[in-house]
Amino acid sequence: MKITFYGHASLGIEVGGKNIIVDPYISANPNAAHIDIDSLKADYILLTHAHGDHILDVEAIAKRTNAVIVSNAEIAGYYGAKGFQSHPMNHGGSWNFDFGKLKYVNAIHSSSFPDGSYGGNPGGFVIEGEHKNIYIAGDTALTMDMKLIPMRTKLDLAILPIGDNFTMDVEDAIIASDFLDCDKILGYHYDTFGYIEIDHKESIRKFFNKGKDLMLLEIGSSIDL
Ligand code: NI
Ligand code: MN
Repeated sequence: MKITFYGHASLGIEVGGKNIIVDPYISANPNAAHIDIDSLKADYILLTHAHGDHILDVEAIAKRTNAVIVSNAEIAGYYGAKGFQSHPMNHGGSWNFDFGKLKYVNAIHSSSFPDGSYGGNPGGFVIEGEHKNIYIAGDTALTMDMKLIPMRTKLDLAILPIGDNFTMDVEDAIIASDFLDCDKILGYHYDTFGYIEIDHKESIRKFFNKGKDLMLLEIGSSIDL
């Protein structure tokens, strides 16, 4: 499994021979100006919730690639009504896709579209790939529900928001990694706006002091699991 950071909460995932884009917010992010959304491959687009900083580039990417948009029922329905391919899910449900098993799990946040449409309830995803399993938290507070995830899935990586203000901060993300029984963390949802700027070295040190590994990727760079 290969995971590429496209800035903010945007990810590319190569798994099972398929390309997945998660929460694309790239074209308006000045830190990601070197990423061309027209070069991104996508068989699927996973959306954690409907906020503008997670869906900005969905339609441009889906129109070009014909990717299947996977999200909660309301978000999938919103794009389905616009003629895009979609797959509706809801909390606690899993589906065996051709790239692996995907579960939609709880997040504590909100989820309205920028145009005011109802975006259902926000979530995160657990992906069980051929050899590795990951959790993408989406925008969320620390929640006890995270303890449920390792009861079903042994995680190799947890992708957690760490920017504070709208989501968990670093300290809560450290507790989350305990709940998730996963000491390998990819941080996201930081630095994009003034509200969520973080001190990188300090954040990495805080995780290190608890025996955990926080990775902060340059935008456009990848990790192989
Ligand atoms: Ni949000
Ligand atoms: Mn957000």
